[in-house]
Amino acid sequence: MKSEDIVQLTKNSTVLFETAHRDISFTSKFIVELGLVSCDARQVGQALTNLLQNAVDAIEGGQSDKPESAPGLIEIRIDTDEDRIIVAVRDNGIGLPKDDQRDRLTEPYVTTRAKGTGLGLAIVRKIMEDHGGELLLEDHPEGGAVVSLVFVLQDPAGSSDKDSILEGGNLKNVL
Ligand SMILES: Nc1ncnc2c1ncn2[C@@H]1O[C@H](COP(=O)(O)OP(=O)(O)OP(=O)(O)O)[C@@H](O)[C@H]1O
Ligand SMILES: [Mg+2]
Repeated sequence: MKSEDIVQLTKNSTVLFETAHRDISFTSKFIVELGLVSCDARQVGQALTNLLQNAVDAIEGGQSDKPESAPGLIEIRIDTDEDRIIVAVRDNGIGLPKDDQRDRLTEPYVTTRAKGTGLGLAIVRKIMEDHGGELLLEDHPEGGAVVSLVFVLQDPAGSSDKDSILEGGNLKNVL
């Protein structure tokens, strides 16, 4: 585990998907320019890749509520509050399966996709548990899914001043 900038890690993972999927519109809203998190960069990169792949699969595979002509959208947000940094991947694809199956989606080998192995979210959940964080699966009000990685900020100095961690003085809204 090292102190890594989650904003940069997110940008690195996203750019690969943007290049590979020119037909999907990628947008990002990051409320911080720098978000230092104690993590394993390779594993967090893997988690982000799995979420982005699921978002692409949800848009490209099968029927969704959106009209056929509506473009595929993936929005990546980074939000933060006093003790957490949340990286959320939202898509306008088919949407998560109904509530009764929702809890099982992070179990290994649970898949609704013909060619899925059902390992993607199980790996993400394990990575987030190893980082003392959380994986959240939600419906977006306008359709599609919002899947979030929640990192709990650790204050190395034990002080309540999080500015040094978040560089809150540099808050920037990228809209
Ligand atoms: N963004 C999403 N939109 C809709 N459903 C999703 C999304 N992400 C995950 N799911 C649901 O969760 C299930 C499990 O996801 P997971 O990534 O673990 O496996 P998979 O994508 O089916 O297969 P694999 O990732 O191993 O190729 C998916 O089959 C799908 O039903
Ligand atoms: Mg997957």
